[in-house]
Amino acid sequence: MKAKRIAGEKAAEYVKDGMVVGLGTGSTAYWAVKKVGEMVKEGLNIRAVPTSEETKELAEELNIPLVSLADVNYIDLTIDGADEVDSNLNLIKGGGGALVREKIVAFHSKKLIIIVDESKIVDKLGAFPLPVEVVHFGADKTLITLEKFDCQPKLRKENGELFNTDNHNYIIDCNFEVIENPKELNNELNELPGVVETGLFVEMADRVIVGNNEGELNIIE
Ligand code: A5P
Repeated sequence: MKAKRIAGEKAAEYVKDGMVVGLGTGSTAYWAVKKVGEMVKEGLNIRAVPTSEETKELAEELNIPLVSLADVNYIDLTIDGADEVDSNLNLIKGGGGALVREKIVAFHSKKLIIIVDESKIVDKLGAFPLPVEVVHFGADKTLITLEKFDCQPKLRKENGELFNTDNHNYIIDCNFEVIENPKELNNELNELPGVVETGLFVEMADRVIVGNNEGELNIIE
């Protein structure tokens, strides 16, 4: 927990007065949002776009002023977690199921800072099953199509029920083990009918802040 906390709190230092800030989702982003909440309480003037209903609720509790993406031309800075980060700063995201809003917010951000503990740093992506968001209609057929990618696709369940995203879609987790070409795979998967988006974030991160439980930080750019 210490690793996630120090990474999240460090990232909040990049938030400056007047910015529009994208607020990520997950247990690491939680610490960044909490810190931004404290800064707002002390007078920081920002507007924020949350990447999930969960983060929206947290930001509201902390009185962080929220706007919708439609209300701004762009986002100055987004801070978000990740499930894996490779040596080219490509990411797997979506372990928490918020990948679609996270990717849209990241795409419209001038800067994307990723915050992780050191266990998330890998040489190649793929040991963490890749989340792929799919529409309900034909989801069983989309799953069969994904099986052709040799990735043991599984519809995500939570408490015995199929998991529904904030966008009312399902997630199929795909265990690739090793992803040699994240860009190509992302493009191929996104071409499949029924696929809304993948958790591959290719060439999107500008900076990765890595924390460890000894309290040390490493910033990769
Ligand atoms: C949410 O959908 C994800 O993309 C998270 O950003 C990612 O799963 C990291 O979460 P943790 O910080 O909780 O590990």
